[in-house]
This record gives sequence, C-alpha cells and structure tokens, in this order.
Amino acid sequence: MPATCVVGLQWGDEAKGKIVDILTEKHDVVVRYQGGANAGHTVVFDGKKFKLSLIPSGIFRSQVPCLITGGVVLNPASFITEIEGLQKEGVSCENLRISDRAHVIMPWHFEEDRLMNRTTTGEDIGTTQRGIGPCYRDKVGRSWAIRMGDLYTEAFAERIYSLCAVKNKILYGMDPAGGESRLDAEKIVSDYLNYAQRLRPMVTDTTAYLLDALDENKKILFEGAQGALLDIDHGTFPYVTSSNSSGVGVCNGSGVAPRHITKLIGIIKAYTTRVGGGPFPTELDNEIGQHIRDEGNEYGTVTKRPRRCGWFDAVAARYTARLSGASVLSVMLLDVLSKLPEISICTEYEIDGVRTRNFPSQVDDLRKVKPIFITVPGWQQDITGARRWEDLPENARAYVQLLGKLIGTPVEIVSVGPDRQQTIFVDSSSL
Ligand code: IMP
Repeated sequence: MPATCVVGLQWGDEAKGKIVDILTEKHDVVVRYQGGANAGHTVVFDGKKFKLSLIPSGIFRSQVPCLITGGVVLNPASFITEIEGLQKEGVSCENLRISDRAHVIMPWHFEEDRLMNRTTTGEDIGTTQRGIGPCYRDKVGRSWAIRMGDLYTEAFAERIYSLCAVKNKILYGMDPAGGESRLDAEKIVSDYLNYAQRLRPMVTDTTAYLLDALDENKKILFEGAQGALLDIDHGTFPYVTSSNSSGVGVCNGSGVAPRHITKLIGIIKAYTTRVGGGPFPTELDNEIGQHIRDEGNEYGTVTKRPRRCGWFDAVAARYTARLSGASVLSVMLLDVLSKLPEISICTEYEIDGVRTRNFPSQVDDLRKVKPIFITVPGWQQDITGARRWEDLPENARAYVQLLGKLIGTPVEIVSVGPDRQQTIFVDSSSL
C-alpha cells in the first residue's frame, strides 16, 4: 500500500516539517526513521508556531500515530522536555511510539561530540553538539551501545557502571583537563531509569507495528530529517551527519522494504543553505547572501547559528533527487526571493577546467568547483497571498519550472510562506 517519503534534497532545513504536517491528514501513520534531536522542524498554523526536534511533524493531528523507529538516536531528557512543551500547548502526545531498537544518547556522547568535532583535514564539522555522531558510532561498534529496550533490563545498571569506567578513561585520554572520573555512574543510572519509567508506555517494537500496518493497507508517511547532501554514505563526507539522510535511508531506518515505497517527495528550497562546515559551491558571502538570510530568517532552529546562504545548486539537487528516487519536488520558501531583480542558478560545475553535471564524490573536488550560473529575471512582487499556480507571477512560475527541468523531476508543491495555507498544489497539466 502507498508509502510516501518526504526527504530533503539539500543540506537540511528545507522546511520538510511543513509538508509532513500537511500530508499527515491523508495518512494513517507518520514515521521518523533517522537522525535525532539535531533536527529542527517548524510547523505554523492558526497563528501558532511550533518547533520540533525529534517528535514527528505529524503530531498535530491527534488521530494519527507517530512512530520513532530503530534508525533514530534518542536523547530521553530532551525528548521528554519536547513532549512536555507540546502538552503545555494542548498538543496530545498519546499517539507517540518509540522503537525499543532506537539507540540512546548517553552523557558521554555529548562530551565526545564536543571533543571530536574537528576532522583530520582541520576544518570543524560544526556538529549540532547533540551527541548524534558518537551515539551512531557506538551503535555500529556494538559493544558500548545502549538501546531503548536495554533500559528495561535487569543488567542495565551494571552495564552503565562498566561503561562509565571505560568512557571515563577515554574521555580523560582525549581531554585530561576534564578530570579522570567526570561520569557519575550512580547519577546516570538513576536519571535514565527515571526517563525509562516516564517513556515506558510509548516504547514498543515499531518494526512489527509498521509491518502490520502495511499488511492492513495503511498509508504510511516517512519524514526524513536533515538533507541528502548530509547523508553519511552519499553526502559531502566528512561534513555530513551520521545517518542516511537521503532517500536511501528510509528502509534501513524503519524496517520497511523498498517495494513499499510508492512516492518520494524531494523537498528543495528555492535557494541553498548550509549550517556547519564543509564546501558550498554556490555560497554567497555577500549582501545578497545576507538578504536571503534576513528574508528567510535563516538561523538554525536547534543551534540558532546563522545559516550560510547561496544560489540554487541544480547539480547538487539533480544528484540527490536521483540518489533518493524523488518522484516529485516541493519547492519551498519561494517568497524569500521575491525582492531580487535577478536570480542565478548553478547548472554545471567546472572542476580543474572540465565542465560536469555530476556531483563529485570527494570533498576536495567539491572545494575546487567553479559554479557555472545562468541568471533569470526575478518577479519583484509579493507572492505570499498566492494560493493557486495561476496566482504566481509569470517569472516565478518560469523559475519553478526551470528548477524542475534542471533536476529532471516534476514540481508538485510550491510553498510561498510558513503557514499551512500558503501552499500551492500544482496540477501537472498546468505546467
Ligand atoms: P550532527 O548531525 O550534529 O553530527 O552534525 C553534522 C552536520 O550536520 C553539521 O554540519 C550540522 O550543522 C549538520 N546538521 C545536522 N542536523 C541538521 C539539520 O537538521 N539541519 C541542517 N544541518 C544539520
């Protein structure tokens, strides 16, 4: 039965949350399957603004179950705070379920994230400092990993004591200034047992839940976090996150087989942004970049860091659309470009004098990229009131069509503002 995925095709922050919130109405289950509290999703409706980190953006429709599956890494403390914040606003979290396979972010992961931010190439990864990378590393390493299900076993306290002994040595070796025994095992056991008790009613086998839901022909909506260029295997390594944030991550993160995926909506901003380190070929380190930052309020939801802004990079988006298997596109934040007299799009890269439409696999090649741009006229009028494709000025329509053409994927949705209402569903016959 239909399973739809919403996946960011850039470096994250493409406004996926808004689209998930809208599509939830037509689905029976919403699933977060990778990443952790490094993500920040904003949902706006009825004049209210909600910021989400780990909780799926489907949470606002109380009849729809929201699952956090085994591919996610979960910090119980911040997760409980997020739930409590929503409950205070009258949002029910009754329908939230967490996989017993999800890995738990432990206090040492934060310390390790802080100490390991720098790559061997010298530039900072610029992580969100939420312990994401170290938790995934321990998952793959197996011996030092804690999963949600482990919190409810008899051996839990004993494991924490022995893990603290090892991690204290490692942390001391990495950073002697922090002392030899900075991890207090007794406190960690007590804190995490409290979290475990609080979360107990939500913890379940979400893989079994999903497989049954598919058997029952339920419509599933998968909500990706971050963007495909941050994918651990296919992104701009090492300046990436530690999970499969492109379309390829849906199956391994959730336990749902590829044959069930019937539609993948690739989410793109009408321009490009990036937070953290790493090359960014179309970056605008000038007043146009600042203009986009101001108009788009391009400051991190999680870390509040100013986002780096640049022109739309069609080479990168074509790569990630093909990699993720995007069937359609959703173009977000088109209104942010409304005041610009001219807009550029990168259509090709030049690397060592050779032109290409292929996205390089090596970060050093990406650093060398000379972007080749085409420039098109802007529309220079307010489009935030547009509700139908025909309401958009001709130049705005031409710009959106051009993005679809360059990526080789049709545009299905255009967003002209943060509110649910400010969304245009494009009838393919009008394109
Ligand atoms: P980490 O995911 O905290 O390990 O950070 C790794 C890289 O991914 C850094 O450059 C972060 O800025 C970036 N990153 C992680 N989560 C997001 C997100 O939700 N939006 C944009 N960038 C992100």
